[in-house]
Amino acid sequence: MNEVFNEAKLAGITLNNRIIRSATHEGMSDENGRPTETFIKKYEQLAKGGVGAIITGYVGVMANGKSPAFNMTMIDSNDKIAAFAEMVKRVHAMETPIIMQIAHCGRQTRSKITGYPTVAPSPIRDGLYNEDRPHELTESEIMDIIRHFVAAVERGKKAGFDGVQLHLAHGYLLSSFLSPHMNKRKDRWGGTTENRFRIVKEILNQSRKRVGDYPMLAKINAFEKSADGMRIDEAVKIAKMLEENGCDAIEVSSGIIEDGFWFARGEFPFEIIAAENFRLKAIPRFLHPLVRTVLKKQMDSPQPYSLYNLESAQQIKKQLEIPVIAVGGIHKLAEINDIIENNRCDFVSMARPFIIEPNIVNKFREGKQLESKCINCNFCVIGIDARPFKCYYGKIEK
Ligand SMILES: Cc1cc2nc3c(=O)[nH]c(=O)nc-3n(C[C@H](O)[C@H](O)[C@H](O)COP(=O)(O)O)c2cc1C
Repeated sequence: MNEVFNEAKLAGITLNNRIIRSATHEGMSDENGRPTETFIKKYEQLAKGGVGAIITGYVGVMANGKSPAFNMTMIDSNDKIAAFAEMVKRVHAMETPIIMQIAHCGRQTRSKITGYPTVAPSPIRDGLYNEDRPHELTESEIMDIIRHFVAAVERGKKAGFDGVQLHLAHGYLLSSFLSPHMNKRKDRWGGTTENRFRIVKEILNQSRKRVGDYPMLAKINAFEKSADGMRIDEAVKIAKMLEENGCDAIEVSSGIIEDGFWFARGEFPFEIIAAENFRLKAIPRFLHPLVRTVLKKQMDSPQPYSLYNLESAQQIKKQLEIPVIAVGGIHKLAEINDIIENNRCDFVSMARPFIIEPNIVNKFREGKQLESKCINCNFCVIGIDARPFKCYYGKIEK
């Protein structure tokens, strides 16, 4: 029987336990995307707090895919490797593995931030924050994106990360290629599942030739809200293709940005949206109640807020040999024990519980606490647009 607090192997990486920090954008890099000392200290705090492994917040592979959130970390050139190597060294010194998540934001960013037009498989406007219809990528631009991902995998290995995770979830560029809702192409990059998967297949296969048996993981969506969005049957197919193409482990998530808070289910945080969102700031306050009603309808996430991807992750696990990580609303030690001991999934990961308590794993292990203190207020999800991540506990400091 697997046990939560026993040593475990994930894609050949040794973890002290089966609780992983899921990717969480930190906003703690400098304006060029290099991790700062404050950022490294944050990871040391997580490592000290007993986490099994850290998956970094998404790290950008090229400038036109930079996040709209505050100061995205970027691995878009070789001269950044040294800064990451220092981060890895310090986390390894605390006997904690660290995996770099890599991403291109595709249509889910703003050209005001990146300095470039947004790009996507198809010119379909993002329902939440895109100013323009994204530019439909040409064949040669797709090749260029593949090259940047492969280069990022190589840089990750050179910097000493224990592995990389391709961000194929939440509507970002690779996710939008996989999703029938966002990819309406008629060429070899769209249509059938095989075609929509092609860009990921190329990245995995080309990277494998460069990095040998280096661990490559993926985070996928098993559900998207729109009628033509991702569904579990399609996600199972994609997971199998990932395994066939050398992916070493899969984390199962759901939701794209225009779905609202479906990827991090919880309360609708209108107070911080009204105070900080660039669009809302321009709207007179007396109209806010109306705006709130409209936005809530568009963005609110459904109940339950707990374990909402577990069923999908289990279905995917049944079809695969490689490890599957469950994420989404995992807050209670009893639930984690149940998932691991009953082999429902191989690992669990959490994001928000680590923002409020970086040492939650030690507290669980020592029996000092049975449940995360996170109240799913989701202020943290909006706050990262303007500043480094932090827990607001449902309140904006005035
Ligand atoms: C502030 C914040 C930033 C996030 N950044 C990322 C990210 O960079 N990459 C990613 O795959 N998911 C990101 N997520 C989603 C989490 O990894 C996770 O899938 C989701 O929050 C559900 O897990 P939880 O219920 O434990 O928070 C972020 C979530 C939050 C709250």
